[in-house]
Amino acid sequence: MISQNSISQVFETARVEEVIGDFVQLKKAGSNFKGLSPFSEERTPSFMVSPVKQIWKDFSTGKGGNAITFLMEHEHFTYPEAIRYLAKKYNIEIEETERTDEEKEQANAKESLYLVSEYANEYFQKVLQKTDQGQAIGKSYFKERGFTEDTIKKFQLGYSLDEWQAFTDDALGKGYKLEFLEKTGLTIVKDERRFDRFKGRVMFPIHSMSGRVLGFGGRILTNDKKAAKYLNSPESDIYHKSNVLYGLYFAKQTIAKEDNCFLVEGYTDVIQFYQTGVKNVVSSSGTALTSQQIRLINRLTNNITVLFDGDAAGIRASIRGIDLILEQGMNVKVCTFPDGEDPDSFAKSNTLEELTEYLNENAKDFIQFKASLLVKEANNDPIKKAETIRDIVNSIAKIPDAIKREIYVRECASIMDISESVLFTTLAQIGKKEAQEANKQYKQEQRAFEVVKSEQQKKPRVDVQYELERKIIEILMLYGDRVEQFEDLILKEDEASGDLILEPAMHEARVFEKIYLDLQEDEMMFSNEKFRELYYAIIDRLNQDENFSTKDFINQLDQKHATEVTSILMEDEKYNLHDWHRNNIVPKEKEHAIAQLVSQTILSLRCYLIDQKVAEYKNETLRENVDTRSVMEDVKDYLGLKMLLSRKLGKVIGG
Ligand code: CTP
Ligand code: MN
Repeated sequence: MISQNSISQVFETARVEEVIGDFVQLKKAGSNFKGLSPFSEERTPSFMVSPVKQIWKDFSTGKGGNAITFLMEHEHFTYPEAIRYLAKKYNIEIEETERTDEEKEQANAKESLYLVSEYANEYFQKVLQKTDQGQAIGKSYFKERGFTEDTIKKFQLGYSLDEWQAFTDDALGKGYKLEFLEKTGLTIVKDERRFDRFKGRVMFPIHSMSGRVLGFGGRILTNDKKAAKYLNSPESDIYHKSNVLYGLYFAKQTIAKEDNCFLVEGYTDVIQFYQTGVKNVVSSSGTALTSQQIRLINRLTNNITVLFDGDAAGIRASIRGIDLILEQGMNVKVCTFPDGEDPDSFAKSNTLEELTEYLNENAKDFIQFKASLLVKEANNDPIKKAETIRDIVNSIAKIPDAIKREIYVRECASIMDISESVLFTTLAQIGKKEAQEANKQYKQEQRAFEVVKSEQQKKPRVDVQYELERKIIEILMLYGDRVEQFEDLILKEDEASGDLILEPAMHEARVFEKIYLDLQEDEMMFSNEKFRELYYAIIDRLNQDENFSTKDFINQLDQKHATEVTSILMEDEKYNLHDWHRNNIVPKEKEHAIAQLVSQTILSLRCYLIDQKVAEYKNETLRENVDTRSVMEDVKDYLGLKMLLSRKLGKVIGG
């Protein structure tokens, strides 16, 4: 187990904006940062990070928390994994306390898959480096490909012995369970027999964005026509092909820095590019590019350059997938290589200067590239030409930005030597069809919504109590430790008339004490369980700690409560997000008149609860065998109290 000391040290050092910045491209927005949500497929940023509060909030999914919860949500780390990850990032040495057997057992199944994969990764590297077969076959193959020792170590390349179950036996001997070896696909189980999936192959580990091993690719070294050249790990609980890009872990920083990402076909292209010095390179290894993979890149940059092998058939096939990138609003360039060359071979036989120069000179805007390609193909065939117009306009229609679309129409018209108006008309037709589709869907949603609405109308529209309880938590978090002047109205008998009157009296108190005492006076209890727990936790902390800090407090909460608190605290950041200040809709300055806010909120809650009580009593009088008179007395008392409170409230609101 990690010592408390180390955990505190991690919390003190880690900066939420730095931690998240490794995964999401953040832009400064006032005192906050914003970016595209890594949890949804949005195009306008609704993901906020507050360096001051050291928390984040994703308005598209409602998730939020601190640096640790981000890692738990995004990387699916457990709490200790997140701590260890941060310790590594910030070079903090972790003090360990002994793990109990129980704790060992608690490591869940998913974690076991990670551990097996990490072990396999170590094992394959060791075999490559330390065994005769590894050296003679695996190592010499990599050397032949031109990979240096540094590259082999960097990409953690390995070798799997050409034996039926060398790895499986080794892993079982080390205590890894067959169940997890099978689930990761490292071992194939057939009846009583076990086989190493990657027998006799050189190994390419596939990493998550944060560097955990998720799976492997293995390349065969013989010329066996029956066996596949590349074998990949199957889908598992930790390896989802459609959501992983090979090389992204090594490339992410450079992608953000260069503000561009090169997309290539496979493992060897990535590695060769990286070794030559072009490090912002990834591949979707084998499968067609998915929108999730594009999203991974889109968090780091808006620009992507797709690199094709020389042959024409390959280009045609690859072009289709590119509309998907346009749909995400990214700028796409493409670059081909001379006949018979692929990115791997080209990078291998050129220096960094030559490679960059080639890329700079030959990367073309995708739409322009496609237009020239189609023009060549159509030649003078009018039918083919009509097809190509639709084809190119289809691509243009995918671009979300209207201005960009218009520019492309003009450019393509000139490339394809047709009038702009033909292209605009086609674009409008396609646009109309899509708009109709969208409209149909919208109407369906509306209808569904109406059904829900009529069902909901029976219930109160806003849960007043919930809102007020939430508000109290917010006030406690933001201003709980402040000392304020509170105006209390004291009930007094007027000496002259003998009537009861309210007289103002000022007193100084800490905000949390005022809230606590007021609520106690009515023996009020939070109805929402989460808020109740939070309420006591905050009051407790404020009582003990002179220097209450929101950040420390959140850090010590469990995830459920931390999420709740951050979502409460980030509420006001929403205003920043929507740029409301530009439209002169400025939310009220909260720090102004804190005392007033406190009084108003508590009084509102008290009034509300009295209404509830009165309603309860009214119901009771409808029942039989009830002493109606005594109930009515109670109601009268409550109504009197309500009037009093309302007057106080009126006073407070009136200022
Ligand atoms: N690839 C793959 N699965 C295949 C074939 C290729 O995943 N069945 C990917 C690999 O990642 C590879 C890239 O596509 O790095 C390029 O393919 P290819 O050139 O056929 O692989 P190489 O290992 O370079 O083979 P060769 O030495 O024959 O060029
Ligand atoms: Mn190749």
